[in-house]
Amino acid sequence: MEFVTYEIEGQVGIVTINRPKALNALNSQVLDDLNEVIDSVDTDAVRCLILTGAGEKSFVAGADIGEMSTLTKAEGEAFGKKGNDIFRKLETLPIPVIAAVNGFALGGGCEISMSCDIRICSDNAVFGQPEVGLGITPGFGGTQRLARLVGPGMAKQMIYTARNIKSDEALRIGLVNAVYTQEELMPAAKKMAAGIAKNAPIAVRNCKKAINDGLEVTMDEAIVLEEKLFGDCFESYDQKEGMAAFLEKRKVEAFLNK
Ligand code: CAA
Repeated sequence: MEFVTYEIEGQVGIVTINRPKALNALNSQVLDDLNEVIDSVDTDAVRCLILTGAGEKSFVAGADIGEMSTLTKAEGEAFGKKGNDIFRKLETLPIPVIAAVNGFALGGGCEISMSCDIRICSDNAVFGQPEVGLGITPGFGGTQRLARLVGPGMAKQMIYTARNIKSDEALRIGLVNAVYTQEELMPAAKKMAAGIAKNAPIAVRNCKKAINDGLEVTMDEAIVLEEKLFGDCFESYDQKEGMAAFLEKRKVEAFLNK
């Protein structure tokens, strides 16, 4: 694959957007490669994904401006749908995805990080939605996910002003969970992913679904969703093993995803 690499380390998959000459900007080919990689992830064997960008400067510097510059209205809408469909696939993948944001996360770069479950970044990271300065709106979910993550007031300020923010501000407003040095970022992402991977996969998957789906509905509906996903864990091998280990005062032998 030309622009996206996929490696597996133990039970953790690492997806790297690899177009460093253009600061990993998302053109149609990068999006197609990403789609193919996401489709190829074996979510029974791999228990957590890390998404990052190649090089030391940029996570993803946005959608490709050169490619977008000549689009018609209909082509623009189709390009938005292409990105949105892929990012939604990432967001609803049945395993957690950690964005290890290693530099610029602008426009589509900020947007893809927000489709991940968790964002951590390096101290040189820069986040922003610069689209209105280019004469467009955010088009890969930014108007929706930024408002949900940091609240509508802060999202509107960032989007209307097109002002980029540094890692410390991203941490302060809750856009990222933690900031590391560039050297520490990937080890920290891998450590977090391994910590997730050692837990019961059916339970982790159901937690992701409960949180994501619950946020879309009323609290009355959301708690019913939770009850069903809670109930779904019972009678599984992993539930029996997890609870037996506690009661027998021993460590879990292994969670087997069944
Ligand atoms: N699209 C296409 N090419 C891009 C790009 C992008 N989004 N971002 C960077 N590049 C390219 C540059 O054109 C340049 O290529 P050349 O060497 O061939 O000239 C190369 O990457 C390196 O970039 P710079 O020389 O500009 O590097 P810099 O360090 O001076 O600046 C930067 C870095 C501040 C990130 C700057 O590149 C920049 O502002 N990039 C655009 C960021 C942006 O506006 N992103 C939003 C795009 S719109 C969008 O994403 C819409 C959506 O919601 C779907």
